[in-house]
Amino acid sequence: MPAELVETIKTTIQPNDHPYMKGAWRPTFNEWNATFADGEAEVIGEIPKDIDGVYVRTGENQVHEPIGRYHPFDGDGFVHSISFKDGKASYRSRFVRTKGFEAEREAGRSLWAGLMEPPHKSTRPGWGAQEWLKDSSSTDVVVHAGKILSTFYQCGEGYRLDPFTMEQFGTEGWVPIDGISAHTKLDEATGELLFFNYSKHAPYMHYGVVGPDNKLKHYVPIPLPGPRLPHDMCFTENYSILNDMPLFWNEELLERNIHAVEFHPEMKTRFAVIPRYGQPEDIRWFEAEPTYTLHWLNAYEEGDEIVLDGYFQEEPQPKSYPDAPDGLERMMAYLSQGLMKPKLHRWRFNMKTGETVEQRLDDRILEFGMINQKYAGRKYRYAYSAIPEPYWFLFKGIVKHDLETGESWSYELGEGRYASESPFVPRIGAKDEDDGYIISYVSDVNADRSECILLDAKDIEAGPVCRIILPERICSGTHSTWANGSDIGMPENSVLAA
Ligand SMILES: [Fe+2]
Repeated sequence: MPAELVETIKTTIQPNDHPYMKGAWRPTFNEWNATFADGEAEVIGEIPKDIDGVYVRTGENQVHEPIGRYHPFDGDGFVHSISFKDGKASYRSRFVRTKGFEAEREAGRSLWAGLMEPPHKSTRPGWGAQEWLKDSSSTDVVVHAGKILSTFYQCGEGYRLDPFTMEQFGTEGWVPIDGISAHTKLDEATGELLFFNYSKHAPYMHYGVVGPDNKLKHYVPIPLPGPRLPHDMCFTENYSILNDMPLFWNEELLERNIHAVEFHPEMKTRFAVIPRYGQPEDIRWFEAEPTYTLHWLNAYEEGDEIVLDGYFQEEPQPKSYPDAPDGLERMMAYLSQGLMKPKLHRWRFNMKTGETVEQRLDDRILEFGMINQKYAGRKYRYAYSAIPEPYWFLFKGIVKHDLETGESWSYELGEGRYASESPFVPRIGAKDEDDGYIISYVSDVNADRSECILLDAKDIEAGPVCRIILPERICSGTHSTWANGSDIGMPENSVLAA
């Protein structure tokens, strides 16, 4: 079926040579609907008939000429959704209609400066912990209470979209005044959504729980010693895990409204373990080696211990990226997993003794891990991590770990082909934890096209079992999710109604 061009958003970006506005990060401005079935030219292999649900990936796709220097995390949120049912697929792509997106569309130019520029360059107050940024709602997506919740890493308002039709519902009503960070966490077993936020004012962090009915059930302070830059949280069946890591804004400069990140190797990493509906006085604090962790993989309870897996950065404050264009050295360095060296790592917190034991699980540089979401917060066996392109915010392949045996398998895409964050898709009726697929959008810079690929999770080394060519090459991005149709009331005709 031919793709339908729904709308083209007017861009004002001038020709430029910014490293994160070209190649796999070249922005696009077309919003599409497209459906796919076996036998069509766009489908290579067969669309699996044993999956039912939707893959949603967001990313930063700048629309307007930036005010000053551009950081890819400033870009406008652009959501790419592809749903599967009965061996058919339906793709829809839409910008998130944030308040900032609409105001800039009306003005025909950027109104907010980004991360790399001083706040006074923004033409009006903004959002987030830094207070003058545009809430691009571009970092992360989860499907909760039947709808996408799109979030911003600096703590924004949270926007809701329908995962199938991409109808937009604006900001989420229960979001507190300090906003919500990216990496809200869905407990599939209960339908609860766990979230946190952070800010420049005491108590500097809050944590909350939203029920499956989309009502705020719990919201408590997590008091910290000062402003911090947490990016992710984790949970077990009974506890939530927040963190206080020794990478934060320089306090003296912050008084002058300058946001300069510094790592303090002399300080410990601290973890707050709080019962899911606990109060601040219930928090158990654990200390660990200094690091910064961008993303956790999973956590679970085992005897007296809480086990937490994530990616331990060996160099949280990387030296400048030597080949970067003038003025972008620091930005390029902080986008380079090859310089920050995140490694798969395990922390064990003993709830009886208060001790922490740490263990490196793999010495390769990996990040952006995914698991079978049914096992989130529970003891699990399989992890799927992205292999970063060493000096770029790009992924060139996937590693599967068997955390019980220590075995691992990998699949690399080849020169000029870059994956998205790649969630696990359970097969309908699956019994095994790894009975399903790994799904990703791949951008092929050489062929100038993007495709949605599916790998057999039990044999990722065999390469894709299906490739679906999208209407055009999409911009690289950040986070994604898979939601089961059975969990979110996927409409019967959702795939065919493009
Ligand atoms: Fe993230």
